[in-house]
Amino acid sequence: MSDTIETLAGLVDDNPLDGLFRVKASAFTDQAVLALEQERIFKRTWLYAAHESEVEKPNAFVSRRVGGMSLLITRGEDGNIHALINACSHRGALVCRNDAGCTRTFKCSYHGWSFDTQGHLIGVPGEDAYDGSRFERKTMGLKRVAQVASYRGVIFINATADAEPLVDFLAGASEMLDLVADQAPQGLEILPGSHRYIIRANWKLVAENAIDSYHFRILHRRYLSFMRSKGAEVGAHAGGFTPRGWSFGNGHGGDEHQNLAALGRFPGRWGPLFPESLKPAIEANRVELEQLYGAERAYRISQVNRSMRLFPNFYILDNSNTGIRTFHPISVDQVEVNEWMLAAKGESAELREERLRTHSGLPGPAGFVSPDDVDTLESCQRGLSHQAFDWIDCSRGMMRAEPLPTDELQLRGFYRHWHPLLTEGQVHYPADAT
Ligand code: FES
Ligand SMILES: [Fe+2]
Repeated sequence: MSDTIETLAGLVDDNPLDGLFRVKASAFTDQAVLALEQERIFKRTWLYAAHESEVEKPNAFVSRRVGGMSLLITRGEDGNIHALINACSHRGALVCRNDAGCTRTFKCSYHGWSFDTQGHLIGVPGEDAYDGSRFERKTMGLKRVAQVASYRGVIFINATADAEPLVDFLAGASEMLDLVADQAPQGLEILPGSHRYIIRANWKLVAENAIDSYHFRILHRRYLSFMRSKGAEVGAHAGGFTPRGWSFGNGHGGDEHQNLAALGRFPGRWGPLFPESLKPAIEANRVELEQLYGAERAYRISQVNRSMRLFPNFYILDNSNTGIRTFHPISVDQVEVNEWMLAAKGESAELREERLRTHSGLPGPAGFVSPDDVDTLESCQRGLSHQAFDWIDCSRGMMRAEPLPTDELQLRGFYRHWHPLLTEGQVHYPADAT
C-alpha cells in the first residue's frame, strides 16, 4: 500500500444513513498500515504502563515494554513516579533485566555506570578519564518518556510532550475507571505474576474482542453451560438495570451487563461458583459499598459486570475478577498480550485464594474463555489474509438509538478514532456518530 491519503481514507467505509460500517481487510494485513500505526498512534497516544500498587515504596520498579520502548517505571526517592528509558546513556545497554523489584541503583553490567531510580547518573568507574572534556555527569541520566501521569492508580505514559492531558484523553471512560477503583475502599493492588502470550492476529482484532459481547453466548457456550450446571442463572437482569454498550469518545468503548454477574462478584455478589463460607465476607463488602456510595452506585459497582477498552490497547475486564490487559503489536499478524489481576488490598486469604481459582477458570490459559478467543482471532487473521476477502463489517445496531452490549458501537467508536489518527486528521467523523 502506498501512504496516500486516498488509500488511507478508503480504509473505513462509514454510511450512517444506510446503517453500514465496514473496515478494509488490508488494515489488518498491510505492513504499511502497521508502520503508520506505530508512528501516528502508539508514539502519540497515552498507553498503560503499570499500576501504582506495583511501585508503592520508594525505589520500587517494574520493567515493561510499552509502545516499542523498554521502560523502567519507578517510584523515586522523591516519592514521584518516573518513566525512564531502560538504556544506558553510555552505549545503550539495558541497565535492568529484572521484571520488578526494589533497588537504589541500576548498575549497567557493561562498564558499570550506575543510575538512581530517578534516572540520575550517579557513578562512572574511572570518571577522571573525562577530566578537561565537555563530559557532564548531570546531562547523562537515563532518558525519560515525555509524559507520565496516573488516574485512580493506573499509570499511563505518552511519548509526545505536547499530547493532551491524560484526563482529557480518558474522556467519558474515566467514569468507568472510577467504578472499578471504587470497588475496593482500601484500594486495589496487582497480584504477583501475569499471563503473557502471543496471538497470531492483528492487534486490532484483539482491540475488538473483549468488548464484543455479541460473540459471548455463541463462542463461549461451553462456559455458559458449565455455569448453568453449577446453578448460575445466566443472563438475568435485575433491579431495573439496563445493559448497555458505550463509545466514550477518543476511541474508548465499553459495556455493562449482568449476564455473568450470576457467577458472583467479589465486591458484593455471592454466586454459586464461590464456596458457601465466603457469603458473609462478600455480603460485608456489599454493605460497606452501600454505606460509602449509596444503594444505586453500590449496586452498579458490586452487581454489574463491565468491560472497557481504552484506546488503543488496554482493557479492564471487571467481572467476577478484575483483570487488566495490554496488547502490543509485534508484527502485522502477531500481538503480545499481558494480563494482570487486580484485587482488593487487605482482603482475607480465603477471598484471595478464591479470586485466583476463579481467575484460572475464566481468562486463564486453561480457562473456559481465552483459549476460544485466541483460536478464533487467529482464524480471523487467516481469513482476512485471503486475497478474496475485502471488508469486515461492524454495522450491528447502527440504527438503534440506545445500543446494546451486543451491538458494535464500541467497535465503530474505535475505528472512528483510529482512522483520523492514521490520516493525520484528514478524515473526520461526527462526535455523536453511532
Ligand atoms: S554501556 Fe552501560 S556502562 Fe557502558
Ligand atoms: Fe471472548
